[in-house]
Amino acid sequence: MDKLIIRGQKRLKGEVTISGAKNAALGVLPAALLLGDVCTIENVPDILDIAILKRIMESLGVQFENIDETTLRIDTRKVNSYMATTPDMHKLRGSYYLMGALLGRFKRAVVTFPGGCNFGVRPIDQHIKGFESLGAKVEIEHGYIKLTASKLIGASIYLDVVSVGATVNIMLAAVRAEGLTTIENAAKEPHIVDIANFLNAMGADIKGAGTDIIRIRGVKSLKGSLIHSIIPDQIEAGTFMIAAAATKGDVLVKNVIPKHMESLTAKLMEMNVKIEEFDESIRIYVKDRLTKVNIKTLPYPGFPTDLQPPAAILLLRADGISTITEGIFENRFQYIEELKRMGANIRVEGRMAVIEGGSKLTGAPIKATDLRAGAACVIAGLIAEGETEISNVHYIDRGYENMVEKLRRLGADIKRISGSPG
Ligand code: UD1
Repeated sequence: MDKLIIRGQKRLKGEVTISGAKNAALGVLPAALLLGDVCTIENVPDILDIAILKRIMESLGVQFENIDETTLRIDTRKVNSYMATTPDMHKLRGSYYLMGALLGRFKRAVVTFPGGCNFGVRPIDQHIKGFESLGAKVEIEHGYIKLTASKLIGASIYLDVVSVGATVNIMLAAVRAEGLTTIENAAKEPHIVDIANFLNAMGADIKGAGTDIIRIRGVKSLKGSLIHSIIPDQIEAGTFMIAAAATKGDVLVKNVIPKHMESLTAKLMEMNVKIEEFDESIRIYVKDRLTKVNIKTLPYPGFPTDLQPPAAILLLRADGISTITEGIFENRFQYIEELKRMGANIRVEGRMAVIEGGSKLTGAPIKATDLRAGAACVIAGLIAEGETEISNVHYIDRGYENMVEKLRRLGADIKRISGSPG
């Protein structure tokens, strides 16, 4: 298994360009199934989750062609299966979008229960409630979810919890339903807007994406041959912004939408981090001592739960005691045990982490416990004294394109070493 070796205490300096958004691409690729035609997607991130999703979609008959490093031509004309049941399905959460996409296209789908990072129970009851409201019969047997409908009919659906996955999945299925579907208490994340924009450009009629009421008027067919460019990854951008601040560096983060970063930039400024915003880039640098803040993760436009682990490392650099309250997932602090090996002074009280700033981190062998925890481990390594060895690198590969190379260009002393399996 590969490992990352970091020699810490180097300030990050320079420029970094952010890749396309993982979570947008994980929705846009399955959405192309609804087309039954050809389309071209730009700014597709080269990450493990997308490679796995492509393999799953190829097993359904989808043809992919790489036009260049980040541009993908997708041909869904010859898709001949509504069964997404390969072992790959367990490897990522985003595989759940095949439910909505296949249901919308074929009025039936058989899909393996989704996998992804383990933050405690991650139910899909709201997805199922949505599909049932549209007229689908949902059966769960032997680890598979079986969806069947003679026809899909638009409905009014109120989500009991604000769920990104359920919002997108219902949107996918409703695009080709008969009549009007309304999703109330919808999630508002930027990638939901991106997926809706892609579908609208294909001929769908979706209004209100990015607000908490989305209206989808079903259409009979969609058209292909368009080019869509995936939005920049808000979480990758935030990770580099936090890494820049934590190393007391000076970094221009390019290819970002500053509006998407507001909850983070507000917190960074509250901590005394200097921020300069431009049209499509943000400069982050530190001149003063960092002060404690309290953070609570919430659905967008609140502070993203996916930036919670990286943010915890930054708070270790601040004067005083900070807190992070996890408002989305019940169990997203597993990585803190790893940080304690490095001397981090953090205690977890239920859904709150209490972080005592100022203590010195020292390099140690640690392991990534999930994707964003992996990013936190990397930032911890960047600020620690001595050498940090991070295992379970495959988690980081799931969502960060060329992280090692990007950090090296910013002056980090980081390398990847391949190890024997096991
Ligand atoms: C998506 C993102 C993930 C991010 C999360 C929250 C993708 C592929 N993944 O995950 O990176 O961390 O949003 O921003 O886009 N819930 C239910 N019932 C459901 C669905 C969700 O109770 O049917 C709960 C979850 O347990 C959680 C909350 O709702 O407590 C939000 O989850 P959700 O927004 O659905 O997250 P994901 O779509 O899994």
